[in-house]
Amino acid sequence: MRNTFSGEFCDLIVTSPPYNVGVAYNSTDDVLSYEDYLKFTEKWLGNCYYWTKNSGRLILNIPLDKNKGGQKSVGADITAISQKVGWKYHSTIIWNEGNISRRTAWGSFMSASAPYVIAPVELILVLYKNEWKKIGGTRISDISKKEFMDWTSGVWTFNGESKKRIGHPAPFPKELPYRAIKMFSYVGDVVFDPFSGSGTTTLVAALHNRIGMGLDIDEQYCNLAKNRLSIELNLLKMGKQNYAEDFTK
Ligand SMILES: C[S@@+](CC[C@H](N)C(=O)[O-])C[C@H]1O[C@@H](n2cnc3c(N)ncnc32)[C@H](O)[C@@H]1O
Repeated sequence: MRNTFSGEFCDLIVTSPPYNVGVAYNSTDDVLSYEDYLKFTEKWLGNCYYWTKNSGRLILNIPLDKNKGGQKSVGADITAISQKVGWKYHSTIIWNEGNISRRTAWGSFMSASAPYVIAPVELILVLYKNEWKKIGGTRISDISKKEFMDWTSGVWTFNGESKKRIGHPAPFPKELPYRAIKMFSYVGDVVFDPFSGSGTTTLVAALHNRIGMGLDIDEQYCNLAKNRLSIELNLLKMGKQNYAEDFTK
């Protein structure tokens, strides 16, 4: 896997790995033992570290907790593993998805016997390779004052994406890579997603004058990503969409 690319090529990684919660992906079943899941995590985080430039960043969307099949501190465990393989910690953004439908598992309802506590949020870790201050690149930032002020607050509130609309079992919304790319990369930077799925990161990167690169184990998802990209880029060329839109609306 490490040899897929030779050496350091990315300025920014924006990704969301499989959560190991039994999502029905085409090519993987998403049900490893927790120990094997952490080993898998260590491996891909190590590869991404190797592929990232010295002042490159990793914006990593992961769960806070795992409730299915036993309670696990996934967010804390992945944060620790990322530092074990070399990533430096910068901060954690809380993504408030507003997904109240998750509040179905109560454990022992209205009893202290064994209640469940589930936060309807996910984490977005902000990590970097060696230097936090960006070196090289165009030095052109395209973030507005309002975006910068709003997004540096560290709690991001916007909805998740519809699986049906996108045709993938676990897409994230465009808003996530949109904010990450605008905040943490320069125009012209290489933005990579090693778990590209329906290609949301590469799509947003291309729409905002970055070089998007994506990998996925599943060929069908790669084709889906290519189709999304060609449809949206064509629409953009024809002037039918405004990509300065506010995705939270
Ligand atoms: C959470 S989804 C990513 C969704 C993506 N952010 C989007 O917006 O569509 C995780 C993706 O990882 C892919 N995947 C699982 N194991 C993989 C592996 N070992 N290497 C590459 N891709 C893998 C799955 O096929 C799935 O598309």
